[in-house]
Amino acid sequence: MTDALILTEMHGDGPRRTALIKLNRPKQLNALNDALMDQLGEALLAFDRDESVGCIVITGSDKAFAAGADISAMARFDYMHVHQSDFITRNWETMLQVRKPVIAAVAGFALGGGCELAMMCDVLIAAETAKFGQPEIKIGIIPGAGGTQRLPRAVGKSKAMDLVLTARMMDAAEAERAGLVSRVVPAERLLDEALAAAEAINALSGPSVALAKECVNRAFEGTLSDGVMFERRVFHSLFATADQKEGMDAFLAKRPPQFGHS
Ligand code: CAA
Repeated sequence: MTDALILTEMHGDGPRRTALIKLNRPKQLNALNDALMDQLGEALLAFDRDESVGCIVITGSDKAFAAGADISAMARFDYMHVHQSDFITRNWETMLQVRKPVIAAVAGFALGGGCELAMMCDVLIAAETAKFGQPEIKIGIIPGAGGTQRLPRAVGKSKAMDLVLTARMMDAAEAERAGLVSRVVPAERLLDEALAAAEAINALSGPSVALAKECVNRAFEGTLSDGVMFERRVFHSLFATADQKEGMDAFLAKRPPQFGHS
């Protein structure tokens, strides 16, 4: 039997619910090995397909969201192995196929691949205990799951260089000031806050939410004018949905909208 390297739960009682995924290698500080990333990828794709799910939350333990890729697993890898097995890309980038919003609820260490996994999520909510860093340089490598690209986009070049080159950790307050996380909450409120954010999204029109996510992600690819044009086309396309009629009619009638997600 395969060990459950992730645990999943459903939350909320509306027509669209929240899927909570908990990384589950607490003794190894949720070090991310191949089997865990396979299980995470399968769960993400299954929840993305499930029409009763509106939003996905990924969390870890109180001590660690994830302390990075599993060093004991990769210590003896050689170049041909990592190249031929497409190490990292093969199962880490499954996250990028998910069209529904994914919220990272981070407590404790989010280091190396753990920080990169959090940065692949759409919204990053941190507990006051969270610590972020890209310490790969200390073990003779560099970030390999997008850290050198996503971190500068989130916090700017100077701070990204500081973190990547010195391997120092940044606490939650600094991460919020730098723009890496959207909000910092007391550790005991972390899951409640993340689930409440998910619940708020679940109540909205699914097509609008998925397309809004796609448009914001476009801001990190290509030019500003291409991004604005993409947004304009998506904006126009939403006038073809029943949810646009319902949302606007409900506003004018001063009643809550009943979105059919179509
Ligand atoms: N891989 C494998 N095992 C890890 C791990 C990792 N990334 N991080 C922690 N662990 C294990 C430790 O080996 C230890 O195992 P044992 O109990 O069997 O000895 C257990 O988790 C607890 O860790 P510590 O005893 O070290 O706990 P600590 O509180 O003293 O320190 C820490 C915590 C500062 C996070 C420290 O564990 C640490 O520095 N971890 C490594 C962080 C790191 O370098 N991450 C980058 C990995 S490379 C990467 O991620 C590449 C990429 O870009 C995808």
